[in-house]
Parts: sequence; C-alpha cells; structure tokens
Amino acid sequence: MGDEGERNMRPPIRVAVTGAAGNIGYALLWRIASGDCFGKNQPIILQLLEIPPGMQRLEGVVMELRDSAFPLLHDIIGTEDSSLAFKDADAIFLVGSRPRTKDMDRADLVAANGPIFVGQGKAINMVASRNVKVVTVGNPCNTNALIASANATDIPSQQFTAMTRLDQNRAMGQMALHANVTPAKVLDVFIWGNHSNTMYPDPRFATIDGRKATDVFDSEWLQGPFLETVATRGKAIIVSRGASSAASAASAAVDHMRDWWQGSNGRIVSIALPSEGWYGVPKGLVFSFPCTCEAGKIKVIEDLPIDSYTQLKIDENIAALLEEREAVSDLL
Ligand code: NAD
Ligand code: LMR
Repeated sequence: MGDEGERNMRPPIRVAVTGAAGNIGYALLWRIASGDCFGKNQPIILQLLEIPPGMQRLEGVVMELRDSAFPLLHDIIGTEDSSLAFKDADAIFLVGSRPRTKDMDRADLVAANGPIFVGQGKAINMVASRNVKVVTVGNPCNTNALIASANATDIPSQQFTAMTRLDQNRAMGQMALHANVTPAKVLDVFIWGNHSNTMYPDPRFATIDGRKATDVFDSEWLQGPFLETVATRGKAIIVSRGASSAASAASAAVDHMRDWWQGSNGRIVSIALPSEGWYGVPKGLVFSFPCTCEAGKIKVIEDLPIDSYTQLKIDENIAALLEEREAVSDLL
C-alpha cells in the first residue's frame, strides 16, 4: 500500500463472528477481511467465537486467515469466551448454532438454538460497544435476534437485526433468470416477515431494467413458482448439497452489514428488526421490512400501500412469529 492509501486509513474496528469455524464462517471471514463489507480503507480486528469442539478447527481457520496476508486485517482473536469475543465489538455476526436437516423446518431449531442467544445477548450487553450493530444469521434467525436483544437490556433493540437478505438475493436471482438479465438490473424487490416458509418477496415496487416487475412477469408466476422457489430455497439446497446454504448465506450477511454500515444508496433492502408497530406488526416482533440505510442508520419505509394479498402475507408472518415468540417466552 502506498503512502496515500495509508493516510486514508481509519482506526481499526472490532468485528465479532460466532460459529467462526463453521461452514458459513469459512466463507464469511474472507469477505470481511478483504474489505468487501466495511470498505477498503477500514482496518479490522476479527474476534472469533467457537465452542470447545470447534476450537481445533478454529485454529486452522486462524492460520489460513494469517496465510492470506490481508492488508486490512490488523489482528485475529480466536476464543471460546464470549466476553472476549464481543469485547468492544463494533459489529457482530451471530452465526454459531446448529443448522437444520432436510426433515426439519427452521422453527424446529428454536429449542436447540434459542438458549445460545440468551448467554450471547447478556455477554454483548456487558462488553460490546454501545453502538454495536448485530446481525443474526443462526436459525430461526428472527426469533434468535429477539432473544439476544431481550437479554441485552442496555443496548437499543433496533441494533439487533436478523438476516432476510438471502431471501431477497434469491428473489433477485430468480427474477434475473426469468427475465434473462443480470441481477444488477433487478432493483427494489424485498422480503416481508420471517426467514421461514411464510416469508413474502414483494414484487410490486421492483423494477427489471427500468420496467415494473409486475409488467414484466404475470401474477401466476409471481404468486406461484417465484414465491414457492424463494420460500423453499433453503430446503432445496439442503436436499441437493446435503448441507445448508453457506457461501450464499455468507454473501448475504456481507450485503446486509455492508449496506447498514456504508448505506444502501437509496435502494430498498430487506432487514428484519424489532417492529415499532409498522404496518400493524406487533411491537417488538423481529420482522423483515422494506428499509433504506444511510449514515449507519436503518430507516423502515413506513408508507408503502398494502393490497389485500400483501396484507394476507404479512398476517401469516405475524402469526408464525407470534407462535415462535410464545415458544421461547422463558428465554425473553
Ligand atoms: P455449521 O454447523 O457449519 O457451523 C456452525 C458453527 O457454530 C460450528 O462450528 C459450531 O461449533 C458453532 N457453534 C455452535 N454453537 C455455538 C455457540 N454457542 N457459540 C459459538 N459457536 C457455536 O453451520 P452453518 O452452515 O455455518 O450454519 C450456521 C447457522 O446459520 C445455522 O443455524 C443455519 O441454519 C443458519 N443459516 C441461516 C441463514 C439465513 O438466511 N438466515 C442461511 C444459512 C444458514
Ligand atoms: C437458508 O435459507 O438457506 C438457511 O436458512 C438454511 C435453511 O435451513 O434453510
């Protein structure tokens, strides 16, 4: 790096990743360390959390990160102690948890994974930066974000989000494929609700190469194969790969945090965050809304018109999330 590059560098930020030796971690860490998420002039200290059975694999991951000689990577901490991993963290990716198998729904993971987010929420509350930005990836991610936030009482709940960006990216990929354009031509399709089979990719404000998606595609496709493919893509990948999506999930986590950190340039992005009653969604439910991001802040677009089909889909997601919340009431 030349003198000019060095001069423009910012002080390092601390980025924590849980489940860092897992499949998503293996794809995510390299994207973060290369500058894809926080910018090419933002040095990083990685703080990686694993449980004891994952520590040997984590040592190997740390060796490989060092061997990649990333200019932005100032330090790497690998630990099984959450109070070290989250210490002064500016951004946290909560990935560590069990993935489902092909005979499960994501909500079936709540008993196994929910308790993880109690301890981690408490640790974040104790030691993380007061401005920390948290994205929850571990499933069921909306409800796990709710659990973490409920256990981090001194940190504003809006700083705890869950990832529905993978669903948005899947929707963009399907629209691009169907219209025979590159995904860059697909703008402003977004997800309502839960990262589960009830999620709803809303096409009404999307454009394909400047044309309204609702003019490019007919409603039979949008409400049929398109919706079905996006909503069940996670299971299709598990059946096909024998393991849940990992590289695409890591890529979506980078997109989510990059837009939150650096801004979404006026584009609509899908972020699940605690409702403040928007669109009739009960307060506190971690629900995916249409958002924009600017100057490190998420803004929910509050005034989109809602037709009866969209309302039905929003209601299905509210019902699913209320059921999940009820199932974890002892963890909140
Ligand atoms: P994986 O099994 O490959 O890795 C998970 C890692 O987490 C393991 O290394 C494990 O040791 C570690 N771990 C488990 N409990 C932990 C804890 N308490 N603290 C720290 N680390 C812990 O799984 P994966 O493929 O990386 O998936 C991780 C999670 O992400 C799963 O719950 C999966 O369902 C979810 N996921 C979510 C999305 C999404 O769109 N929201 C997409 C894909 C996967
Ligand atoms: C996905 O959407 O690929 C992940 O949530 C994994 C899963 O269980 O579907």
